[in-house]
Amino acid sequence: MKTEHTINGLRDPLRQARREGKTIGFVPTMGNLHAGHISLVERAKAQCDLVVASIFVNPTQFGANEDFGTYPRTLEADSQLLAAAGCDFLFAPAATEMYANGLNQSTSVHVAELGKELCGAHRPGHFDGVSSVVSKLFNIVQPDTAFFGEKDFQQLAIVRRMTQELNFPITIIGVPTLRAEDGLALSSRNGYLSAAERQQAPMVYRTLCQLRDAIGYGQRDYEMLTEAARQHLQKSGFDPDYVSVRRASDLLPAKAEDTALVILVAARLGKTRLIDNLAFELPASA
Ligand code: PAJ
Repeated sequence: MKTEHTINGLRDPLRQARREGKTIGFVPTMGNLHAGHISLVERAKAQCDLVVASIFVNPTQFGANEDFGTYPRTLEADSQLLAAAGCDFLFAPAATEMYANGLNQSTSVHVAELGKELCGAHRPGHFDGVSSVVSKLFNIVQPDTAFFGEKDFQQLAIVRRMTQELNFPITIIGVPTLRAEDGLALSSRNGYLSAAERQQAPMVYRTLCQLRDAIGYGQRDYEMLTEAARQHLQKSGFDPDYVSVRRASDLLPAKAEDTALVILVAARLGKTRLIDNLAFELPASA
């Protein structure tokens, strides 16, 4: 695997590969890689001739009181994992390389509809930072296909919408969430959890499963269901930002007749913000 820290250093070999007719798969990350990230690389490897992963802790998607400063940076270990997974290029730019005009560069990408609610409401500016940096990375790498985790369901929806509306000639693939045996979605932020919090954390996924089952049994009062789940999480030591049942297609609040659903949760446990979701289909007649 070759590691490149500059835009031109990456563009030259990719241009050559494209000229040879090779297809390029792209996996953007912020590093501190775990098996979930690697599953994206493996998927890219299976589908494309050449795989590019990026590691960039993007400052513009963190709020002033968030964890940009403490976000784990583990480039050495990450490189080894990527190389072992068969990744061809690692792009690991400095912030000055990505934001040559400073972090407040005058151009940004704003996906109005999907970014307002859920995490967007609790992390102002976050999704603008994500869609802007992903646009930049798409223009730098120019992949045929890009791979994103369903773990960040709202992010995936925003990236899909942005790709379509800005006519990026890129196929976006959503990859299922990889979980620990006890159900906790793998996340770089799980490293912030204390041992006791780590024991408690799988309750987020259990809550999602219970809600899905209740809906599967015919309950349709989503307000009541999610409020009860929120209170239950709160009583168990979490500080929930939201628990919400949405239409999987456009993340609008689900109505009783909708059948393709996703339940999304964000909750703080101590200083760790956990997010998770569960998408499922109801039989049309239910
Ligand atoms: P990061 O949190 O590092 O995640 C990189 C990619 O890995 C995302 O597409 C995310 O959804 C996926 N991922 C994370 N945990 C996963 C899991 N348990 N199973 C499957 N996939 C998982 O998301 C970002 O970085 C950034 O916002 C980024 C898109 C790189 C823009 O800066």
